[in-house]
Amino acid sequence: MQPLATSAAETYDALAPFYDELTREHDYEGWTRHLEETARQFGVRGRKLLDAACGTGKSFLPFLGRGYTVTGCDISPEMVALASAKAPAADLFVADVRALGRIGSFDLVTCLDDSVNYLTGDGDLDAALASLARNLAPDGVLVFDVNTLSTYRTTFARDMTLDGPEVFLVWRGGCGGDEEPACIAELVIEAFNETGYGVYERVTSRHIQRHHPRPEVESALAGAGLSAAGVFGQLPDGSLDDLADEHLHHKLVYFARRVAKGGDTP
Ligand SMILES: C[S@@+](CC[C@H](N)C(=O)[O-])C[C@H]1O[C@@H](n2cnc3c(N)ncnc32)[C@H](O)[C@@H]1O
Repeated sequence: MQPLATSAAETYDALAPFYDELTREHDYEGWTRHLEETARQFGVRGRKLLDAACGTGKSFLPFLGRGYTVTGCDISPEMVALASAKAPAADLFVADVRALGRIGSFDLVTCLDDSVNYLTGDGDLDAALASLARNLAPDGVLVFDVNTLSTYRTTFARDMTLDGPEVFLVWRGGCGGDEEPACIAELVIEAFNETGYGVYERVTSRHIQRHHPRPEVESALAGAGLSAAGVFGQLPDGSLDDLADEHLHHKLVYFARRVAKGGDTP
């Protein structure tokens, strides 16, 4: 067995060939439509998207289909390679969201599907939100989701399997079910990949996430010159609940805008 990854880049380089199979039931088309509609209610007008931590492209492909100009980046070269193969029209590159320079002025900046939870070190969330704010148009909106305590106490505390046509995936939750705010959570995903008749390669990826309590997120947003225009609970059908509850929802979704001079969001 290969040594277990210690960074998000190593984790996702290992998982990349199996990521689309792992997420095959996820309705990105429907989910991103709800996100887009809400971002428009908060003032987004143009169609220039930056998708940070874009993975294999699942979070930006629906926007490409809706006429957006897409720029994307991810820390994992293998994830970016798969995204590039799917979307030659998108401008994609390898980058750490904590250290993104100014690439442009984007109407919509996204960082989706618990990518923010891979920011586990002290100051990582502050650095990432500052990077994303740097690339936001004056009336642009930043959208990101974070896993709730409920997710760490349930989905990260159980074992599951997914029997795909070419790969058998095993999800081993490393949590105990009694996680507290700001906990560090571990998950191991093992892929048994058929490489020949009856011959399977075993690929293991270790995922380390951090729970980001709402006060910490709001403080990091303020440090980046942003504030939350809306915080919603993610519902299973992809729609958003006005109530944002750590115990009822599996994710909270943040919509953030620049703080105008004088203190309020524009
Ligand atoms: C669960 S995947 C989500 C990918 C994609 N947004 C989606 O919705 O399918 C999390 C992604 O975050 C990326 N990631 C983790 N830490 C990162 C960092 N510091 N900078 C950029 N990308 C990062 C991983 O490489 C991975 O592709």
